[in-house]
Amino acid sequence: MTIDIQPKPVSASSVQHHVYKVFPNDLNAHYTVFGGLVMSLCDRVALVVSERHSGKVCVTASVDSFHFVAPAKDGDTLLISAAVNRTWSSSMEIGVRVDAENSFSGESKHIVSAYFTFVALGPDNKPCEIAEIEPQSEAEIRRYNGAQVRRDARLRTRENLKNMK
Ligand SMILES: CC(C)(COP(=O)(O)OP(=O)(O)OC[C@H]1O[C@@H](n2cnc3c(N)ncnc32)[C@H](O)[C@@H]1OP(=O)(O)O)[C@@H](O)C(=O)NCCC(=O)NCCS
Repeated sequence: MTIDIQPKPVSASSVQHHVYKVFPNDLNAHYTVFGGLVMSLCDRVALVVSERHSGKVCVTASVDSFHFVAPAKDGDTLLISAAVNRTWSSSMEIGVRVDAENSFSGESKHIVSAYFTFVALGPDNKPCEIAEIEPQSEAEIRRYNGAQVRRDARLRTRENLKNMK
């Protein structure tokens, strides 16, 4: 079997505007969309991006941040977009953005931004090497640089916690 680990562009795996129509059973007690549902949708879309990029089975290793910046409501259409921000040896950061659209007026608002880390697994279920990502646009390069800052902070925090008494 040939292993394809040539660098890949962000566009080869990204998902743009995956739609999810909100119905009443998606709401919390405040009648806005239940946050856990949005987290699950984001995790699924990000998983698809990670598996497209790596060509491997991937698992969610961590979520660095998940910001709910505005609520969505019954009848809104959620538009979920996700892309690889950066890759390392076996792991990759996937950035996810969710907008809520009123499909009658066409108005949309940003509701969520999140960063997931996925790890690709080989047939032995151990982390395995993946293709690098080649950022091209200005926004892709900005996200690529930001991902390294987030990874460094995560590793630093892990190290500090390990050394705590
Ligand atoms: C994620 C997992 C595969 C890592 O396995 P591991 O044996 O600890 O792997 P390693 O320590 O060799 O690290 C492998 C890579 O994962 C990354 N990683 C491990 N834990 C991580 C974490 N908590 N957050 C971010 N990245 C992590 C490492 O940085 C490393 O990245 P690199 O290869 O790109 O440098 C393993 O912890 C696991 O299977 N976790 C459960 C995943 C799961 O079930 N997800 C669904 C959640 S419900």
